[in-house]
Amino acid sequence: MRKIIIAGNWKMNNTISQAQDLMAALIKNGGDMHKVEVIVAPPFTALRSVYDILGQSSVHIAAQNLFWEESGAYTGEVSPMMVKETGCKWVIIGHSERRQLFGETNDTVNKRTTAALRIGLKPIVCIGETLEERDSGQTFEVLNRQLEGGLKDLTGENMAKVSIAYEPVWAIGTGKTATSAQAQEAHEKIRAKLASMFPQGVADKVRILYGGSMKPSNALELLSLPDVDGGLVGGASLNAHDFIEIIKAGIKAEQL
Ligand code: PGA
Repeated sequence: MRKIIIAGNWKMNNTISQAQDLMAALIKNGGDMHKVEVIVAPPFTALRSVYDILGQSSVHIAAQNLFWEESGAYTGEVSPMMVKETGCKWVIIGHSERRQLFGETNDTVNKRTTAALRIGLKPIVCIGETLEERDSGQTFEVLNRQLEGGLKDLTGENMAKVSIAYEPVWAIGTGKTATSAQAQEAHEKIRAKLASMFPQGVADKVRILYGGSMKPSNALELLSLPDVDGGLVGGASLNAHDFIEIIKAGIKAEQL
């Protein structure tokens, strides 16, 4: 019922020429990619050339961020329309690196999410607890706060266009992955929280991706969990072979 999403978050990696090489390998060897929803999120500078190279392929592009104002004196920012014009259908919002390094808050996540929806982009809203928060038993309080703040005042109709990425901060780029039990528990609770904020039918429809050291060796197990509807892949998405293996795991999980 919920089509699996495999999204590659490149972060601040890949120049235009590196991006072109990576996409050429993906198109050549990716196989039946249309069986899942494959998304890549290059840096702003490479969005358009990746879009051009993907051509008629089923792979879509996402931006890694956007600003909520339409235009004006905001040096260094990129507007929703500018993002959309590159060919993006999706945008990642509130990644933990943006929260930790660039002052992103639940309130700015909400502004960006609302602006993305207004222009017709589908947001992937990232949430997740730090190790300290997990160790002190606050995981679900933190996730609930992030959902309440980040998704504030969204209509059910709009929420149905949003995906959530659950990315425990302690698992990002560390090689440490959440166990299946930890991932399923968090995803189930996130869906229950969504059902308390929006109609059940909407909560059932929202795709909840797992992120944090997803790789070929653990992708199938994670993607087969009942409430895990995809992956937001960082490091492993920079390597065509590994990313394709994760896509294949997604296709397998889709058929289970
Ligand atoms: P990782 O990053 O796969 O390198 O852990 C995931 C992410 O930050 O989206």
